Amino acid sequence: MTRLDTVIKRLMAQRSCLNAAAETLGNMAGPVLELGLGNGRTYDHLRFLFPDREIFVFDREVASHPDCRPDPEHLFLGAMQETLVTAAEQLGPAAVLAHADIGFGGAEATERNVVALGPKIPPLLKSGGLVICDQSLDRFEGLSPLPLPPDVEPGRYHVYRRD
Ligand SMILES: C[S@@+](CC[C@H](N)C(=O)[O-])C[C@H]1O[C@@H](n2cnc3c(N)ncnc32)[C@H](O)[C@@H]1O
Repeated sequence: MTRLDTVIKRLMAQRSCLNAAAETLGNMAGPVLELGLGNGRTYDHLRFLFPDREIFVFDREVASHPDCRPDPEHLFLGAMQETLVTAAEQLGPAAVLAHADIGFGGAEATERNVVALGPKIPPLLKSGGLVICDQSLDRFEGLSPLPLPPDVEPGRYHVYRRD
């Protein structure tokens, strides 16, 4: 598989998981969280899927396409190790969905990020809310794995329900 193939599969997996989450959640009330704005692609898709919900965005910087930038009231800027805690204090366990695209800079750096951020995600979710992540969060308490959409290969993306 080429790197192009890998990127395409990853983006298709993201879209399938986000689309499936929108169907699963239906009209369950609560905001959506985007952990990792990056280029803003998945943020833009979340805006499309959840036009009537607040979407709070987390990143250390805003480097997205100009059309895909949250307003300041919906942006938690800085290291997520800190801003996830701040958000939990401000928002409480209110979110129905957190999409976490937090892999970067090689396996070791990604592993450190997962260890640092993983335990800080469940307190932001209401019971029954969903977490969709590019990394496995199996080791963290409060999250139960859910089946992937049929077109997503096992391990390519991860979906959890908040207990
Ligand atoms: C892979 S990109 C996200 C791409 C995005 N989903 C998109 O579709 O364009 C990951 C983003 O998460 C941010 N990020 C990762 N770990 C972080 C951390 N611990 N604190 C703050 N930002 C972080 C990076 O700055 C980067 O912009």
